[in-house]
Amino acid sequence: GDYTGLLRPRVHFTPPQGFMNDPNGLHLDPYGTWHLYYQYNPTDVVAGNQHWGHATSPDLYHWTNQPIALFPPNATAGVFSGSAVLDSDNTSGFFPNQTDGVVAIYTLNTPTNQVQEIAYSTDGGYTFTPYAGNPVIDIGSNQFRDPKVIRYGDHWAMVISYASEWVIGIYTSPDLKEWTHASNISHIGLLGIQYECPNLVSVPFADNSSDSAWVLTVSINPGAPLGGSITQYYPGEFNGTHFEPFDRAARLSNFGKDDYAGQFFYDEPVSIGWASNWQYTNQVPTASEGWRSAMTLPRRNYLKDTGLAGYELVQEIYDLSPVLGNNSIVVPSTNLANASQSVTLSNPTAIYFDANITIPTNATIDDNASFNFTISTNSSGESVKGGYFFGGTPANTIWLDRGKTNGFDNPLFTDKFSAAQLKHATRIQGVVDRSLVEVYVDGGAVVGTMVVYPSEPLSTFAFVTNGLPEGSEIQFAAWELVDTWA
Ligand code: FRU
Repeated sequence: GDYTGLLRPRVHFTPPQGFMNDPNGLHLDPYGTWHLYYQYNPTDVVAGNQHWGHATSPDLYHWTNQPIALFPPNATAGVFSGSAVLDSDNTSGFFPNQTDGVVAIYTLNTPTNQVQEIAYSTDGGYTFTPYAGNPVIDIGSNQFRDPKVIRYGDHWAMVISYASEWVIGIYTSPDLKEWTHASNISHIGLLGIQYECPNLVSVPFADNSSDSAWVLTVSINPGAPLGGSITQYYPGEFNGTHFEPFDRAARLSNFGKDDYAGQFFYDEPVSIGWASNWQYTNQVPTASEGWRSAMTLPRRNYLKDTGLAGYELVQEIYDLSPVLGNNSIVVPSTNLANASQSVTLSNPTAIYFDANITIPTNATIDDNASFNFTISTNSSGESVKGGYFFGGTPANTIWLDRGKTNGFDNPLFTDKFSAAQLKHATRIQGVVDRSLVEVYVDGGAVVGTMVVYPSEPLSTFAFVTNGLPEGSEIQFAAWELVDTWA
């Protein structure tokens, strides 16, 4: 692929060329390599002709593009979303002489039907052979897709979407070939117009890593509250056949519009989402560079019991150290109750910033108390902004704004996003990566992901704090990130 285009993110994954959507088949192999497959149209920059593209990484940031892993059997079929498992005990019988066999479980989409198929790889996930007994599940529906398979005790468990009925099915299998329907979860949370890409995952608690609970995620499209696509999640209990949410509240996994169809790595509380939205993904201007769509940053997930709001999924940025430059590009500061700094970036680059905020307990917080960041350019006057309101109404609110960019005009490409918290933030991290901006509040308790399309590279990074009470401290630093595609 040609990664020289000015909108190409530097640390987020993008396909070599063509169109990408959902992450698929995510797994960490026994040799320490992370495998990312993805919905892929290699022949055009719009969705269609779905294959499974493939890339591998030692650290989830430096990716090597691999040959396409799964091909549709004919011109009218598509290999839709699905997952992969490590069949180290050879339950499937595909791997008599090895413990590193990989099985992919996916939807084969045809003009009349969506059936579930499997394919196996004896070379560690690089090439796959479709099972001769496919399909493994066919219920005669054309709205039945996106199997995600996990190991539970002595069997395999699959979550799968009956998309237009707002039902998530759970199936079980001893061998990945014979599947039995076990239970359904229906009409949970926000319905949108369809349910897609369910995941079921065991996630550790932040404060006690020996304890864990289950999280079901369900993506909805169209019909997200902000329009188009978004993912929601439900913490709960799973007994191998039935999932019971702790409560029925809908919790969105992102306050932006560009984080969909997220998938967890097999047997790991690590996830990646598709950083786009079906409302405008087929129109975004990166097509002029020959590609469309990026993945979100990788995230390490854990659960937190917040008391008041119940269980919350915390999506922490996965260890960034492999791409972190050596020195802060701003003067690292500890006392920035009322401060500002700006820096011109080596152009065009990706940056990471980290603000840790301490406000004295019982201090009165002024209405104008805030933290803001801007990335801009003088020549065209474009900018992308974000920030946090500590005081006033609404207090404790993170926001993002992509309105002052000129590279893409679409009525559904809305400008501003925000989310409120019960208590003020103590940490705000962000990654600005050319056509993608992500903010992580309080280590990932609140996450915002936003694609941005300036007409030229934004090269000045600035931050400002205002009006924080006497005695407040903000430890602020920012780093240039390594260009993983250089
Ligand atoms: C979600 C989705 C899935 C489907 C895939 C097709 O974005 O619509 O439901 O399997 O994309 O590319």
